Amino acid sequence: MKNILFAASEAVPFIKTGGLADVVGSLPKNFNKEEFDVRVILPKYACIKQDWADKLEYVTNFSMEYNWKSRYVGIFKYELDGITYYFIDNEEYFKVDKPYSSDGRWDIERFAYFSKAVLSALPVIDFRPDIIHCHDWQTGLIPVYLDYFHFFSEYYCGIKTMMTIHNLKFQGTYGTAEVRNLTGLPDYYFTHDKLEAYNDANLLKGGIVYANRVTTVSNTYANEIKMPFYGERLDGLMNARSAELSGIVNGIDYDEYNPETDAFLARNYSVENFRKEKVKNKVALQEELGLPVNPKTMMIGVVSRLTDQKGFDLVAHVMDELCQDDIQMVVLGTGDEKYENMFRHFAWKYPEKVSANIYYSEAMSHKIYGSCDAFLMPSLFEPCGLSQLMSLRFGTLPIVRETGGLKDTVEPYNEYEKTGTGFSFANYNAHEMMYTVRYAEAIYYSKKRDWNKIVERAMTQDFSWKTSAKQYEELYKNL
Ligand code: ADP
Ligand code: GLC
Repeated sequence: MKNILFAASEAVPFIKTGGLADVVGSLPKNFNKEEFDVRVILPKYACIKQDWADKLEYVTNFSMEYNWKSRYVGIFKYELDGITYYFIDNEEYFKVDKPYSSDGRWDIERFAYFSKAVLSALPVIDFRPDIIHCHDWQTGLIPVYLDYFHFFSEYYCGIKTMMTIHNLKFQGTYGTAEVRNLTGLPDYYFTHDKLEAYNDANLLKGGIVYANRVTTVSNTYANEIKMPFYGERLDGLMNARSAELSGIVNGIDYDEYNPETDAFLARNYSVENFRKEKVKNKVALQEELGLPVNPKTMMIGVVSRLTDQKGFDLVAHVMDELCQDDIQMVVLGTGDEKYENMFRHFAWKYPEKVSANIYYSEAMSHKIYGSCDAFLMPSLFEPCGLSQLMSLRFGTLPIVRETGGLKDTVEPYNEYEKTGTGFSFANYNAHEMMYTVRYAEAIYYSKKRDWNKIVERAMTQDFSWKTSAKQYEELYKNL
């Protein structure tokens, strides 16, 4: 039996800002329970949904030296679907209404505290992991502190670490002197072959350098980040660690995302009856959003963080042209003001074509996955992407740019060989995207039978965690 501890800054159902939470909340359930005891540790944010927060059980507390003071570390615990979740409590750091702030230095102080507290908590929670599986920069200091803790306690010797990169863009960087001061780590760690990069301390880099194994969330992204364009200035390091670096594509929770049982949908449907049933969801959504009700109109969905990563500058560029077509576009997202306002503007200009829903809603996201005909995701880069997997599961055909996980999970339609599960384009070019959308429109409107065959193939793909969890198990075994 191997003990694995996932350390992360978010997990469904407790707290979510993006795909990281979906992964940390669903992957642990998919390991072979006879061989692996997988548990999860998270910060106990004040913004954890109240229903869940009320259920957490207090375990213990202790004091830990951090940033020149003795700090409180409380531990809470909760068991859900056979998985034990631990929570690190400290109100100074986690009494927040969202997990991340806009103050980079403050977030570094908070998550460096979390990383040290995770290691310090192990002896008192009575769970000694063989492997700590770290996710993203917020937990990048765990492998570094672990190395340092070896000098003080036998207990930590032999614990291995794995670092999974969900997004290389976010690295957690701040001035070296400051980070050295607050973490209490010795000078030794702050050289350019360790924590330092470009004269700053870089928490993700620390994790990548010190972890025994590094993974990212798709094969293509694992290769892309070895090149300058996607490497976010760490491509040199990714090349240096390429022997220990691999890509394992994400899955999604097939119970939570299931058109046959989804309680948010007006009509449930399956691969057998989607031809008749799915369109009823579209009509219900048109009514709900005040769009002209017409079952025939092609509806294109977007559910996304509205940031540069997701390719919305391409969309902005050709939106006027696209709105001349016989389509409806339903957008759900929050993020950069420029994109929020861009969609609001086009919803005002083309009220019959565009519905801009600038908020966060799980219910609305499911309705969009289950109602639209196509789903647009023209990302500039995409480590994996989960929205296209959700769309495939609901028979909503993804239109994507061929990058990262989008390239690995969406097979472009080939009209000659009658293969494919969606539509894709290669270059980051607004008109290339637009022509791909128009190609999809042409198939939708004039080759409905072929379209439905694509839907059938999309719905029968398997992006549950089955295969990918096995790949993680192999890595755990070999560590
Ligand atoms: P990323 O993690 O980069 O944001 P992913 O595609 O991996 O992208 O995951 C995004 C997740 O967040 C999906 O589960 C998606 O449905 C969800 N999501 C994004 N924006 C919203 C929103 N406004 N309302 C509800 N869910 C959202
Ligand atoms: C990040 C990436 C996204 C990925 C998610 C989960 O948020 O942007 O592509 O799917 O992490 O791994």
